[in-house]
Amino acid sequence: MSEAYDALKAREQAAIMNTYGRYPLAIASGKGCRLYDCDGREYIDLLGGIAVCNLGHCREEIAEVIAAKARELVHVSNLFTQREQIELAEALKTTCHAGKVFFCNSGAEANEGAIKLARRYMRTVKNRDAYEIITLTHSFHGRTLATLTATGQDKIKFGFDPLPEGFTTVPAADIVALRAAVSPKTAAVLLECIQGEGGVLPLPQEYITAVAALCKEKDILFMCDEVQCGMCRSGRFWAFQNYGVEPDVFTCSKALANGLPMGAVLATDAAAAGFVPGSHATTFGGGALVSAAATKTLAIMRDDRLAERAARMGDFAKALFEDVRAQYPDKIAVIRGMGLMLGIELTFPGGEVWKKLLGRGFILNLTQDKVLRLLPPLVIEQEDLKRFASALADVLGAI
Ligand SMILES: Cc1ncc(COP(=O)(O)O)c(C=O)c1O
Repeated sequence: MSEAYDALKAREQAAIMNTYGRYPLAIASGKGCRLYDCDGREYIDLLGGIAVCNLGHCREEIAEVIAAKARELVHVSNLFTQREQIELAEALKTTCHAGKVFFCNSGAEANEGAIKLARRYMRTVKNRDAYEIITLTHSFHGRTLATLTATGQDKIKFGFDPLPEGFTTVPAADIVALRAAVSPKTAAVLLECIQGEGGVLPLPQEYITAVAALCKEKDILFMCDEVQCGMCRSGRFWAFQNYGVEPDVFTCSKALANGLPMGAVLATDAAAAGFVPGSHATTFGGGALVSAAATKTLAIMRDDRLAERAARMGDFAKALFEDVRAQYPDKIAVIRGMGLMLGIELTFPGGEVWKKLLGRGFILNLTQDKVLRLLPPLVIEQEDLKRFASALADVLGAI
């Protein structure tokens, strides 16, 4: 490690709460699919700030919008009507079937909002004492008390009990288990069509179709968490669109403003009726600056056809990785994913492989101990993917 890094690390340890097992580098700047550390070393970014910087780092058009808005209007609160927020909601509506949008600041806050909406919708619109949210094993929905309770991974919950009531987790991709769990107390099913933190696990088509049908049959809300898999990453604007279903409520965040903190709950007009003035709120959500940045992000996604690009580049990457797997079938168990949300599951704990790839200048994530997770900016070039595949083959050959 360099002196510059060591000095920053020491200051971090003295001043920042100890919640992250961080990568051993300090990033100083970024451009497109490149990141540069505090010593000026260049990296190919295959993580995109964890599925956030879908247009690449420091995109010029977004930087211009942010700079201009910062001089005109940054924040006034939701006590006021804001043109920028309305324009963003209208732009989001052109991407899907939703009728109304609520803006917030993060993925967890969006899911928290969706959970509140489901409960309130059942109580006030349906007049039913239904509050339970059913979620799936391997899911991840956030770190607030409600969303970590919704999350189907025990390690996320450890030490935080007592947890809020009204959540049940059932095995993923098991429609019989889900049907058995639905009761008169059920308000909604919440799932990620492609589970991200859980190890890049796309749920089967027949399962998603059956969940949507079950929710209709039981008159409960079908809710999708699109925080990671949404916004063009999966090859469609929203991941549920790959499955031909229309959730009553869905959430997004990460890539919405290409790096500025923002989240949103989107709902059909019918489901959105669960909220009335005073029932849910946030000071910052949908402020002028972040909304303007997000509207520009959406415009670029549309104009540059980034969903189609993600599908194309995802297929290209998968084919490359399958070649590496053919070379090392004993080391790569499976390649999974949709679009540019890709998982390479190793047959052994991947810490060493991840570290060697970082040493060669590739930034990616290791999830569930064995899964190399790739969530690159959607503007990534074939050449970068080829360089990664070749480095992966080298590293696997040497390990
Ligand atoms: C599917 C999903 N939902 C929710 C969240 C939580 O988002 P945030 O970290 O912005 O609260 C994440 C974060 O990784 C996520 O992947």
